[in-house]
Amino acid sequence: MSETAARKPWTLPVRNRHLLLTRGRRRAMPPVKTLRALGLKRGMCFLDVGCGPGYFAIPACGVVGKHGRVLACDVSPMMITELRAGAKERGYANMTAKRNRGYRIPFPDACADFVLIAFVLHGVAEIQRLLAESRRAMKNGAAITLIDWHKKPMDMGPPLEARLEPEELVSELRQAGFRKARWWDFDGNTYFASALAPGGCQGRGDAL
Ligand SMILES: C[S@@+](CC[C@H](N)C(=O)[O-])C[C@H]1O[C@@H](n2cnc3c(N)ncnc32)[C@H](O)[C@@H]1O
Repeated sequence: MSETAARKPWTLPVRNRHLLLTRGRRRAMPPVKTLRALGLKRGMCFLDVGCGPGYFAIPACGVVGKHGRVLACDVSPMMITELRAGAKERGYANMTAKRNRGYRIPFPDACADFVLIAFVLHGVAEIQRLLAESRRAMKNGAAITLIDWHKKPMDMGPPLEARLEPEELVSELRQAGFRKARWWDFDGNTYFASALAPGGCQGRGDAL
C-alpha cells in the first residue's frame, strides 16, 4: 500500500475559492514570474490540471501569447465558469477550459508542452491516475510541475493529514514514468516538484 493511501485528501470548499485569488497570494507567488521561471514560453501549449478560478491559467494566456494555447480543467463546474469569465474579461481568446470528471483529463494525447498541477494533489486520492492522465496529454520531453504545501503545521493551507511530503511527490512522479524528477523548497511553506515526460530533450528553467 502506498503512503498516499493513508492520507485523508482534502479539497478547498468551492465557496472559499476567493482565497485562491488574493493579493497576498500574488505577492507571495507572482504567477507570471513563477510560470516564466518554470520555463513557460511564448507559443507553448500549457495545461493546467485542477485550474480553480485561474490563478495560473489566466496569466498563462499572456505568457504563451496568441500563438500559444492554454488548456485548463477542473472537476468543479463553478471553477470553470469563473475561469472562463476571468479570461473573457481580460480579452484572452487562447484558452479552452473544460470540466473533467474524475481522473480523465478532457484533452487529446500529446497536446501539452507544459503541465501544471498546483495545490491539487493534497485533495486527490489516486495520484497515479491523475499523473498517468497528465502524461498521456504531454508531448515527448514536456515538463510537468507540481506545487504543494509542505507537510508541517502552519496557519494556512489544507489539514496536515491531507498533505504530502515533497519526497512522496517525487516518488509518485518516478512511479508514473517521468524522468529527472526532483523537488525544491519555494518559501518554507510551499514546494515545487518537477519532471519531464519520456522522450525529447527540452531544457527547463529552475530559477525559483
Ligand atoms: C486549492 S484549488 C487550486 C486551484 C489552482 N490550481 C490554484 O493554484 O489556484 C484545487 C483545485 O483542484 C480541483 N481538483 C481536485 N481534484 C481534481 C481532479 N481529480 N481533477 C481536476 N481538478 C481537481 C478542485 O476542484 C480545485 O479547484
